[in-house]
Amino acid sequence: MSAVPVPASTTGDSSWFVQDRFGLFIHWGIYALPARHEWVKNRERISDEQYQRYFSHFDPDLYDPRAWARIAKAAGMRYAVLTTKHHDGFCLWDSALTDYKATNTLAGRDLVREYVEAFRAEGFRIGFYHSLIDWHHPEFPVDGLHPQRDDVEFRAKNAHRDITKYATYLHGQVRELLSNYGKVDVLWLDFSYSQRDWGWSKGKGKDDWQSEKLVAMIRELQPHILINNRSETDGDFYTPEQVQPQGWVTHEGRPVVWEACQTLNGSWGYDRDNLDWKSPDLLVRMLIDAVSKGGNMLLNVGPTARGEFDARAVTTLAAIGEWMRLHSRAIYGCTQSAYSAPQDCRLTQRGMRLYLHVFSWPFRHLHLNGLGGKVSYAQLLNDASEIKMTEVSENGTSGNSTLRLELPIQRPGVLVPVVELFLK
Ligand code: GLC
Repeated sequence: MSAVPVPASTTGDSSWFVQDRFGLFIHWGIYALPARHEWVKNRERISDEQYQRYFSHFDPDLYDPRAWARIAKAAGMRYAVLTTKHHDGFCLWDSALTDYKATNTLAGRDLVREYVEAFRAEGFRIGFYHSLIDWHHPEFPVDGLHPQRDDVEFRAKNAHRDITKYATYLHGQVRELLSNYGKVDVLWLDFSYSQRDWGWSKGKGKDDWQSEKLVAMIRELQPHILINNRSETDGDFYTPEQVQPQGWVTHEGRPVVWEACQTLNGSWGYDRDNLDWKSPDLLVRMLIDAVSKGGNMLLNVGPTARGEFDARAVTTLAAIGEWMRLHSRAIYGCTQSAYSAPQDCRLTQRGMRLYLHVFSWPFRHLHLNGLGGKVSYAQLLNDASEIKMTEVSENGTSGNSTLRLELPIQRPGVLVPVVELFLK
């Protein structure tokens, strides 16, 4: 046995966050029209004038966030985080501080408000993703990531840009978002320059956003809100991106509340021709793996420009939901166990219940070291059928320290079979 890490306490309320474990990330904006990744403006060095065609043609006639919320709920997700503004600067809400917003497109309305109402009605906790950088704002510097970074003339013409004016805009927009939509549970700020080497953008960030002032304002407006770690001040929770950490995530040596954000196919925004779809089986393993290390998983969908979830996303979420229907009690409220899992397995634990997630179905027996004499009953979670147990000694040593489970030869027909163990 090894001690289960106790995460550093958070300023915002993380009590629900560490119970709910599974959230929906939604990257939606006018980059859904080119349908070539949400960084398309940067990657293809698209100017504002050229990008305007997506603004002009944005007409999400099928947008029905209630349908999104129902799909997410059936998948077992309990909180959601929507991009209010991504790096391209387009705002999904009716901001008073810009014309570059959904209200002025064919959508003609505040899309964030509908999201908030729909997801709240389905019992979700509400999160906003908000981009710290902005490739549309006239005062955001033409830095090493800017779509027009290679346009020498443009750069010269815009050399005077004043980041402090942009920071005022940023703070004003965050104030709007946290004042006009009721209780917001998560603010997911992005992007952190300092975490990566972006050539001549290096060293930017914190001071540019006036992060400390920003965070103080956020906490004043919504004291319970959880803020992620990407504003470059200490956050409530940490956000490994498209990676499964090796163990409980730490910051400066201390375990922290954390959430791995993951994609369905490597892209966050709708990416039509991308075929790198992860299987539901892999995604369920990733969720289990996160919880077994004390973390959450925030799984992303990039809706189409018409406002729907792609059929491939819907099918995948339904398959995850079928697993969650039978196994969610091995996820919700669970965390890392003090016991160690045998090979090709993960353990999650909630109180006196231990969940053994069997990634690779073995022949007949599974040996759990250190659990001999400690379990009163065991069953498969999918059908509550008994699993017989015996106590044996570990590798011929004396004592009955090991618990031997006798598994059926036939692997249960679920994405990942789970054995529920009742500790004495
Ligand atoms: C990144 C990307 C971005 C995505 C985000 C999600 O930093 O800039 O496109 O929104 O991570 O974690």
